[in-house]
Amino acid sequence: MLDLLLRYDFLLKNRNFPFRVLEFNRKKVLELGCGPTMGFGPIAVFLGCDTYVSCEPMFNDEIRSNKIFLDVFLKKLHRDLLVPIFGDRLTFVEWVKKIENSVIVEKCTYLDMEYCSSYDYVISNSVLEHVSLIQIDQTINRLKQESNIGLKFLHDVDYGNHASTDWVFENLYNICFNEAREQNKPHINLLRCSDLLGLFTNANFECSSIPIVSIDNSHKNIHSSWSNLYDKDTLSTKTSLIVGEYIS
Ligand SMILES: C[S@@+](CC[C@H](N)C(=O)[O-])C[C@H]1O[C@@H](n2cnc3c(N)ncnc32)[C@H](O)[C@@H]1O
Repeated sequence: MLDLLLRYDFLLKNRNFPFRVLEFNRKKVLELGCGPTMGFGPIAVFLGCDTYVSCEPMFNDEIRSNKIFLDVFLKKLHRDLLVPIFGDRLTFVEWVKKIENSVIVEKCTYLDMEYCSSYDYVISNSVLEHVSLIQIDQTINRLKQESNIGLKFLHDVDYGNHASTDWVFENLYNICFNEAREQNKPHINLLRCSDLLGLFTNANFECSSIPIVSIDNSHKNIHSSWSNLYDKDTLSTKTSLIVGEYIS
């Protein structure tokens, strides 16, 4: 997770974005779908966040006392966090105590979360593509309700087929759009980068995308139902960051 954050930070810096991803200090942070090991939570705590909250339908709270998580996973992460860019902020014991006391994870989707708050920072990795089409509008609406003015957000989104095929868009772009959407419905929503930008913009978020991985599809047969809907750049984007701010 630390490598991901450093990569995001580099990308933001490269694009002269007015904020850095590692600026968690005194922020109220929300992560969508943190995964089994609290996602970016332990790092956000180390970097001084006020609160870290997440919603993860697959979360198992027993991780908090799991020996391997504490003695191997967190120990290694703590060593990595002590590198000179971050400095010697918290001892391992202090950090683990803070994680115990301040990390809140609810085992549910964001829409079902009981915990309500207003946040300064929202982050996710490979989650937005899994939010069902029925829930995506409401999800972005709730994000808006829980946004402080000036909130920053960063979502890393994977537009590929999430399967181990040579071509990452196999069984997506080579078949009819509606068929692909139907087949993948339980798993991924097939919203493309431009769709997500549209949804965030309509909800008054100021946002843009930063491509991370682009794929050359020029030698592939793209079904006309896809090329009628999306331009080449959109269809070549495998992963991108959706980054922005909440202005009003
Ligand atoms: C590919 S995993 C990524 C997990 C983690 N972010 C990581 O980087 O390892 C996608 C995660 O999103 C979660 N998820 C799917 N829909 C969600 C929703 N509506 N709200 C919150 N989490 C969701 C899933 O349970 C799953 O753990």
